[in-house]
Amino acid sequence: MNTPIDYSIVSEKIKESGLENIGDASIRELVKLVSQIEEKTGDKYIRMEMGVPGLPPPEVGIEAEIKALRSGVASKYANLEGLPQLKTEISRFVKLFLDIEVESKYCLPTVGAMQGAMALFMLLNRTNKNKEGSLFIDPGFPVQKQQCRVLGHTYETFDVYNFRGDKLQDKLESYLKTGRFASLVYSNPNNPSWICFTEKELQIIGELATKYDVIVIEDLAYFGMDFRKDISVPGEAPFQPTVAKYTDNWTLLISASKAFSYAGQRIGTVVVSPKIFHRKYPDLKRYYPNEELGYSFIYGALYPLSAGVSHSTQYGWTAMLKAANDGEYNFVKNVSEYGKKAKVMKKMFLDNGFKFVYDKDEDEPIADGFYFTFSYPGMTGDELIEKLLYYGISAISLKITGSERLEGLRACVSQIQPSQYEALEYRLKEFNKKHQ
Ligand SMILES: Cc1ncc(COP(=O)(O)O)c(C=O)c1O
Repeated sequence: MNTPIDYSIVSEKIKESGLENIGDASIRELVKLVSQIEEKTGDKYIRMEMGVPGLPPPEVGIEAEIKALRSGVASKYANLEGLPQLKTEISRFVKLFLDIEVESKYCLPTVGAMQGAMALFMLLNRTNKNKEGSLFIDPGFPVQKQQCRVLGHTYETFDVYNFRGDKLQDKLESYLKTGRFASLVYSNPNNPSWICFTEKELQIIGELATKYDVIVIEDLAYFGMDFRKDISVPGEAPFQPTVAKYTDNWTLLISASKAFSYAGQRIGTVVVSPKIFHRKYPDLKRYYPNEELGYSFIYGALYPLSAGVSHSTQYGWTAMLKAANDGEYNFVKNVSEYGKKAKVMKKMFLDNGFKFVYDKDEDEPIADGFYFTFSYPGMTGDELIEKLLYYGISAISLKITGSERLEGLRACVSQIQPSQYEALEYRLKEFNKKHQ
């Protein structure tokens, strides 16, 4: 068969991978398969399967990290609670870009938002012996469910696609009123769909969290990356929207990986609402030294997980945050590159018969950003993901993200270079010619 990538090699590699259904493959399994096809054919794919930052990190961070290493921090354990100057910069960042006031003691560095989520599940889902686990507002980041599974916590999920705006109220309440959930999880902007909750939706979430005494884990891994609003001026509206405006039951995950292109250094932050931090949960003592949530978070969860965060990396992130807080480094402008790429790429998909899956925030079109979701009429996501491999295009299935839109795939724009646009357009055209 005549396809842009050698048909027999792609078939052979799919067979060799042992994957029964490509649509069920995890992100890392797809990465491996596509790399093997690229190696054998010598052809370069339009690789949209993995959310890796495609930009260089800010120099100021790298220099600070090198300087810290040269000064000898590598031989010393870092403080569990985090470097004081980093905590100060996080607290400033939260004030300047979220408009939320928290002292630095409530800002705790973690080994990526990944570890932050793990530590939060470990704590929050054990605050009440009569509650079972987490509710995920999906679609979402699959590894967080894996974290719940390995911890033995139960979780439930629902796809928010049909429950935007006012409809979120009844849907969310139907879960929370069961009293089963200790925590409520979502990312905003959302991985994979790039929807962003409106203020009205955040208010619904916050008020219900208070009403049913559930703690929100608001994952801001893509902080500031809803490019429809420029939140980049420190201390000036608009700010990154947050549920922390609507409830005291909040915890935030802030990651250096995407907003500061620092994924390889594995650093993030958990910010805990002061009310929650100091609240006493007697049931925590089943697992932890103290019934105060904040104390147990540090000495009961962060300690056994990794005994703190890489010392030099904390210096790197301190410098980047300080530059952003002082208005010397515009982190939003830097990553807005992704929005520009998405705009060009999304048009190519639309022009060639594809449709978008998650396309609106209430009545407003979603932002162009790190991810977008697409489908091709008449095909399931499983069929589409496999067929696109013969056309040199890779993405992941929405199925693995808790989405009920089984026709959909997620594309990540970060690794695509403008020099590849021509190849992408050609491949999409060929695909459409063959399948329309
Ligand atoms: C929604 C979401 N949360 C958390 C993470 C993990 O972030 P980190 O690299 O800081 O561990 C990611 C990474 O892709 C993500 O998409």
